[in-house]
Amino acid sequence: MWHKHMHSPAKKPKVEHSSSNPGGSGWSGGGGFKNSPKLEGHGQPNEALKQERRALPIYPARQQLIAQIRRLPSAIVIGETGSGKTTQIPQYLLEAGVNGGAAIAITQPRRVAAVSVCQRVAQEKNTTVGTSVGYRIRFEDATSSSTKLIFMTDGMLLREAILDSKLTKYSVIVLDEAHERTVHTDVLFGVVKAAQNCRLKTGLKLLKIIVMSATMDVDHFSRYFNKAPVLYLEGRQFPIQVMHTAEPQSDYAFSSVVTLFKIHKEAPAREDVLIFLTGQDEIDSAVKQLRQLSRDMQDLPKLLILPLYAALPPQQQVKVFEKTPPGHRKVVIATNVAETSITIPGIKFVIDCGKVKAKVFNARTGLDILRVVNTSKAQTLQRTGRAGRESAGTCYRLFTEAQFGEMSSNTVPEIQRCNLSSVILQLMAMGISDVMTFDFMDKPDRESILAALTELELLGAVEKISESDMPKLTPLGKRMAAFPLDPKYAKIILLSQEYGCVEEVLTIVSILSVDDIFINQMNKRDEIQSVRQKFVSSEGDHITLLNTFRAFKSVNGNKAWCFENFINYRHINTAREVRKQLRDICSCQGIQFSSCGKDTENVRKCLAAGLFLNCAQLSKQGDFTTVSSRLTVSIHPASALFHCKPACVVYSELIKLGKNYMRNVSVVDPEWLQEVAPSYFKQKKVHLMT
Ligand code: CDP
Ligand code: MG
Repeated sequence: MWHKHMHSPAKKPKVEHSSSNPGGSGWSGGGGFKNSPKLEGHGQPNEALKQERRALPIYPARQQLIAQIRRLPSAIVIGETGSGKTTQIPQYLLEAGVNGGAAIAITQPRRVAAVSVCQRVAQEKNTTVGTSVGYRIRFEDATSSSTKLIFMTDGMLLREAILDSKLTKYSVIVLDEAHERTVHTDVLFGVVKAAQNCRLKTGLKLLKIIVMSATMDVDHFSRYFNKAPVLYLEGRQFPIQVMHTAEPQSDYAFSSVVTLFKIHKEAPAREDVLIFLTGQDEIDSAVKQLRQLSRDMQDLPKLLILPLYAALPPQQQVKVFEKTPPGHRKVVIATNVAETSITIPGIKFVIDCGKVKAKVFNARTGLDILRVVNTSKAQTLQRTGRAGRESAGTCYRLFTEAQFGEMSSNTVPEIQRCNLSSVILQLMAMGISDVMTFDFMDKPDRESILAALTELELLGAVEKISESDMPKLTPLGKRMAAFPLDPKYAKIILLSQEYGCVEEVLTIVSILSVDDIFINQMNKRDEIQSVRQKFVSSEGDHITLLNTFRAFKSVNGNKAWCFENFINYRHINTAREVRKQLRDICSCQGIQFSSCGKDTENVRKCLAAGLFLNCAQLSKQGDFTTVSSRLTVSIHPASALFHCKPACVVYSELIKLGKNYMRNVSVVDPEWLQEVAPSYFKQKKVHLMT
């Protein structure tokens, strides 16, 4: 089944390479920490952790690294995943006082990484999260006024920039995992660069920018940040044997199970395995299947099977870092979160499905669709590299060598393949009105920017007086930008005042902002359906969600009740937290709270007014057709309306699973839509029929 060859890790220069610093002494390797300032923060970190910190590849380079960063306004740091960039560099800078007393922001593309890295650093500093070290992610703030190291998602820093475009609170911004090129990271590049410039011009304290990446392709970064020198960290990478399948695999999840058991039968138990799959559902079902299979195979060593994805509770996430008990084999099944942002100790084998879930946007249809796509060569190599962190390893690729050859070399930056309406709204709220000429590292195409502007214009957030004028944010647009939400939902919340249903809309938007509150188990489908019937509304999913939340509140958020009703207790609680925060923003915006009680028609009217761009009509064939792009779509099987044929609906999202499915669907009256956006429907030449 397997074809094999050796993977040689990219060769890294041993010494610093720097265009603006000829003659700079090499600092990777070589050591020299005799005169280093005290490493500890406050408190006494335990001896084992201290040892671990000192054993990291970055440690010997520490002093030269600090010296370099101290004198440079911007620097790019490159180092193999696991070398200690994220956990150590912020601590080094703080210990050496490079921040000059102000806070250091370290951005992460993922919530999981922001939280877990922060916990680790707090542990190393022998302190608790929220004191000198903290994190900030959407709807959660674990910092205090004295926090100096703030780990945050890139989206959070972007929101801060709306209120303070010079980022005056910070003296150092570390843009971590830059190679991921998420849409927020890309926008941050421009925003942070502008803040640095502006502070320079206005004589404010210098803003230091450090860009950290795990891949070598950095000329791009360096050029963009005014030829910032690139500092290379010497990594540790052992040889890795790479195996490809002889034939393409039609079911990679199944192939990954087969491959795992091949490894399990052949390799010693202490050698752990990391499997890359694409998403939570896939991972959960693989975990279940593997646990069952391993129970049936009594004669083999025990398997410790751990899932790892963004939506997993933190207590479960940290399990992957724990030592594998003797006689067990650890198997971590992860999304691409384990590609670079998280390093799992003990991994000797990697099984790579070669796929990733990615947002794909089509500017012509205006749709953001989440779908499983092939990884790029760069991503594949990163995944392979995870097998050779501590010793020589093996990577099983669940695709052929020819398929590898066909992969694109680099992942296209997300900004070039997603809906930009949210980002453009944020940029405009920062006072950047000419979004067309914004200094993007890689510009999204003109068509996508125009599509976003059109969407914002239709939502009333942006206005254009004439063709030659620059688009302007309207007062409504400014208020919409205050919410950390897709502009459509921000608008729905603002509109809900007019419809007298602020409380109801807050509940619905909060639930839509978290992971699915319903638990769906294939083997209990009938039972779940009959239990859930009491929440289901013929008006559609949004009202069903509202009913569920109301019932949850009526039992005071009882955990046992959630269990009996197949409700995910953690997710619905998160929704409650999110709701509190959105309610606070509403208060700041001077919104009057109101409730519509049992009569939920106004809630749907309000949804229609915000989601009119997401509407679909029943077609003669019995499918639905979207108004925006004449796409044929169906109602998702999990929807309350799956068996219904309403003439007209609005939906929260579209997903592609073979067919295009609408998720979270509500029945609406075509007249409502016509009323809120007459010119839109006229332009689309759509006659909405009742
Ligand atoms: O950023 P980079 O990939 O260079 O490394 P890092 O995230 O700073 O991780 C350095 C080491 O700290 C890793 O090898 C992990 O073993 C360890 N670590 C951990 O044990 N727990 C965490 N939550 C994060 C890192
Ligand atoms: Mg890192």
